[in-house]
Amino acid sequence: MMLSQTMQDAINQQINKEMYSSYVYLSMAAYFEAQNLPGAAQWMRKQSAEETEHGMKFFEFLIERGVRVGLQAIDQPPTDFGSPLLAFQEVLAHEQKVTKSIHDLYALAVKEADYPTQVLLHWFINEQVEEEKNASSVVEQLKMVGDSPAALFMIDRQLAART
Ligand code: FEO
Repeated sequence: MMLSQTMQDAINQQINKEMYSSYVYLSMAAYFEAQNLPGAAQWMRKQSAEETEHGMKFFEFLIERGVRVGLQAIDQPPTDFGSPLLAFQEVLAHEQKVTKSIHDLYALAVKEADYPTQVLLHWFINEQVEEEKNASSVVEQLKMVGDSPAALFMIDRQLAART
């Protein structure tokens, strides 16, 4: 069964959203390096690499389904994120937007009785639960830091351990 044009367009769009996410997190990695927080920068590099993998999952899926992928321009990400707490709050807000976008895709796949796309999206639905949980746990830790450099230093070391 061929993917509908609407579904093709929506998945092409989602590839762009994942690649933009990758770019935003890479920009956050650069921001954290400039703030002398190499652990947070490492966390963001890892996050960025995962987003590229997400984009590639959709990319390969379209190709498997015989669809011509049409890559679109990636927007320029912000370069300043205000503070570590604001940056991670931005991660959480961004992931919540991505979750909404994945859920919208799923609703479309259900409407179109497109079962293979639903199966692909099950992975993403689970992944988004994990993504939101990870971001919100760092937000909560950073809220506890307040303006203690020592506590921030400890959290940065912990963030470096993300594999
Ligand atoms: Fe690709 Fe962080 O969702």
